[in-house]
Amino acid sequence: MKNIDKESLDKAFRLFESGEINSVEIGTTKGLQQIHHYLFSGLYDFAGKLREKNISKGGFRFANALYLKEILEKIDQMPENTFEEIIAKYVEMNIAHPLMEGNGRTMRIWLDLLLKAKLQKVVNWQFVDKTLYLQAMERSPVNDLELKTLLGANLTEDINNREIIFKGIEQSYYYEGYEIED
Ligand SMILES: Nc1ncnc2c1ncn2[C@@H]1O[C@H](COP(=O)(O)OP(=O)(O)O)[C@@H](O)[C@H]1O
Ligand SMILES: [Mg+2]
Repeated sequence: MKNIDKESLDKAFRLFESGEINSVEIGTTKGLQQIHHYLFSGLYDFAGKLREKNISKGGFRFANALYLKEILEKIDQMPENTFEEIIAKYVEMNIAHPLMEGNGRTMRIWLDLLLKAKLQKVVNWQFVDKTLYLQAMERSPVNDLELKTLLGANLTEDINNREIIFKGIEQSYYYEGYEIED
């Protein structure tokens, strides 16, 4: 496995351990960039920066880089008061995919911050199956019901539980192909 991923995983742990997670802006592009910068500074020269190139995954083309700023301004203004609204906002942010690499890992932390602030809940990612999650994400630009069902069934009110947070981060890196060796 690439060393970048291991180093980034350490940074992710430190983001929470150090309490710096508490100074991240919630539910905005700026907050997403702050998290990304924290996870990837010194590893990618584009850490914390919006992409200027077009990218796609599994045949899905994410937002055109030319319109990214305008799209992100709209997403920042989306409501975030209910679980449904928060997931809708997360889905739009994923469709925007504003970073060159690391969108998945950055956005899951971003989503949890939002859920925690607005609903006093977080996703218990360790119980969210990788295949089901990635399928639901692929499906989400067309229909977000699968994603809502999957994440809705795995919310926890145990928001300050260190083990839940850290196992969730490990799971998030595992989704993207990185496996921790004991
Ligand atoms: N076909 C797809 N359509 C929409 N979203 C997708 C698709 N494939 C993957 N994703 C989302 O993109 C994320 C991966 O984006 P990426 O920028 O590579 O992040 P990371 O580097 O953290 O893996 C996945 O976790 C998933 O949420
Ligand atoms: Mg990736």
